[in-house]
Amino acid sequence: MNEQEARRRIVELREEIARHRRLYYQEAAPEVTDPEYDALEQELADLEDRFPDLAVAGSPTAQVGSDRDDRFPSAPHSRPMLSLQNSYDLDEVAAFDARVRREVGQSGEVAYTVEPKMDGVALAVRYRDGELTSALTRGDGAVGDVITRNAATIAGISARLPDRWREALPEGASACEVRGEAYLSLSRFAELNTAREEAGLEPLANPRNATAGTLKTLDPEEVRRRGLSVVFYQLFTLGPDDRWDEDRDLASHREQMTAIARLGLPTNPELVVAADLAALEAHLADLERRRHALDYQIDGAVIKVDRTALQRRLGWTSKAPRWALAYKFAAEEATTTLRSISLQVGRTGVITPVAELDPVQLAGTTVSRATLHNWDELARKDIRPGDRVVVAKGGDIIPKVLRSLPEERTGDREPMPPPEHCPVCDQPTQRREGEVALRCVNPNCPAVLRGKLRHFVGRQAADVDGIGGRWIDVFVEEGWIRSLADLFRLDRDRLAALPGWGEKSADRVLRGLAAAPDRPWAAKIFALGIPQVGVTTATTLAREYASIEALARAGVEDLAALSDIGPVVAEAIASWFARPGTAELLDDLREVGFLREEEEQPPPEPVVTSDNGVTGLTFVLTGTLETMTRDQARGHITALGGKVTGSVSKKTDAVVAGARAGSKLARAEQLGVPVLDEAELRTRLADAGIDLER
Ligand code: IVH
Repeated sequence: MNEQEARRRIVELREEIARHRRLYYQEAAPEVTDPEYDALEQELADLEDRFPDLAVAGSPTAQVGSDRDDRFPSAPHSRPMLSLQNSYDLDEVAAFDARVRREVGQSGEVAYTVEPKMDGVALAVRYRDGELTSALTRGDGAVGDVITRNAATIAGISARLPDRWREALPEGASACEVRGEAYLSLSRFAELNTAREEAGLEPLANPRNATAGTLKTLDPEEVRRRGLSVVFYQLFTLGPDDRWDEDRDLASHREQMTAIARLGLPTNPELVVAADLAALEAHLADLERRRHALDYQIDGAVIKVDRTALQRRLGWTSKAPRWALAYKFAAEEATTTLRSISLQVGRTGVITPVAELDPVQLAGTTVSRATLHNWDELARKDIRPGDRVVVAKGGDIIPKVLRSLPEERTGDREPMPPPEHCPVCDQPTQRREGEVALRCVNPNCPAVLRGKLRHFVGRQAADVDGIGGRWIDVFVEEGWIRSLADLFRLDRDRLAALPGWGEKSADRVLRGLAAAPDRPWAAKIFALGIPQVGVTTATTLAREYASIEALARAGVEDLAALSDIGPVVAEAIASWFARPGTAELLDDLREVGFLREEEEQPPPEPVVTSDNGVTGLTFVLTGTLETMTRDQARGHITALGGKVTGSVSKKTDAVVAGARAGSKLARAEQLGVPVLDEAELRTRLADAGIDLER
């Protein structure tokens, strides 16, 4: 590969990785399995090694992903919250052992610990004078989201440590931080999904994403109901300034575990010690064999050098400790026969191919359906009905078809062409320019309508109890409902006459519908099912626009100037309003009283004012920064109560322009928005108390 090709590929990989990180950390909806993701990172790291000139500060290879969510306040970490180096086979483990031994020298001895790598969400929890003071998510590794009230509802996180907490901590310590992983046990996950199904809600896709979503819920009582668990795997002392007190570390990882247990906090009982490579390998194999007997999902094992002194000698990179290694298990695979490919039509009209399989045992469950993602992938992988196929589970409970085994193909198996007509309404399908998805564009398609209705009545939307999925299907089939607004026209007598219903159930549903117009304005926007508009974006829109008319009139530029709305989302919103049928839908929803001329707007985001030149101000970052990544800059700005948006408008207070800044800089100059260079930003941050040396 020459330099030019490498450059192109590097740019591609960075974009791809950024997208997958967003899907994983922010949207809790990953599209690829962990090994697939790691392979992208590895390819990028290799290219940057081979072409060092092309490696820039801010490359994802030098940063950890970010799960920052601006509905929560943020705070700096006491010390960086890092990721782990990954490995996939025993050769890599042997190489790690060799690196560690080189550092120790001939004479020294090494002990490792091996423990499960929990597939949950990392938490940092602080106690001072025996009291819980804060709980932070990893965020971008430097700054985390403060989710103390939510974390405090988790059974393992006590508000007060036992009276003799001082005895568990190093001499003289009065505050400590424990880090660990919050997770949903598999048994609790199954319970929640059973309950959701009964209520007609979409099941949660997997425990990790459910955990991430739960911790970012705004209602601590809801967090408590979900029943999360936690284990801690690190403890260190904090100084009076809430920063890591390096001089008061315990002597080993094992001592940390003992201290955590003495504080009455949960640790993982699965921890074992290994004195050499052979023992390491035996423990890894043992854990991999038993992984499905555990009541939580793990995606590998974590190997750590036990002694703290040696950990320090080995040190850290900007991304991960050199003294620890994650050993990732291979995704388990099984071979079965693809009976047929069925078609699923979602609420946006996207038609997805679904594999109907001969039932097969995989990673502890029986699998009979799997996703095939989209038609391009189906064609690329040349998967045909009747084929023998290999299925695997990634992080998701829903398995996927990895590949077919064409060498085992018998008879004449024909590939299945993408459907020309919607399987539900028989209208011609369409592909939008630049999209892989195939769609049914009939706004009256019953499948699309069913999906929209299910979304509309959901908890975070109009929140109408008692008409979960099954009943919506009935209403659509009976022809009672042809649009969202028809929900409000349901007839009490007809409902009461449904099998198993009666007047009580009918009244409950009607009460829910009558209360829907009083739902928060943001929930009503979310209920409309505008493409790309999740709960967070809906809240931003609700704050800015007081009615559906006002929102409908907003242009792409206006929308993109709002915090956290990028050009893609802005475009999606504007084109939804411009679509034929939208105006009619909105009129209809006004007529039944769901939408109002003026809605009650959520309170503006609390603005903390201070004249430090950052707090309360809105920034746009553009070009390449040299001394920090854009994510770090954003982290510092938001930690001080400033905002970072994606496009320049009159409301922008300052544009920070790095090297090779382009159109945003030009726009700032055109609008007369002040432009700062990186040094000026650093001065402001430092003046406001951000420690930039760390
Ligand atoms: S140790 C500096 N131990 O995996 C030490 N991490 O991929 C870093 N994780 O961010 C963490 N189980 O959220 C450690 N037993 C375990 C773990 C574990 C899960 C997570 C953790 C970390 C991520 C890195």
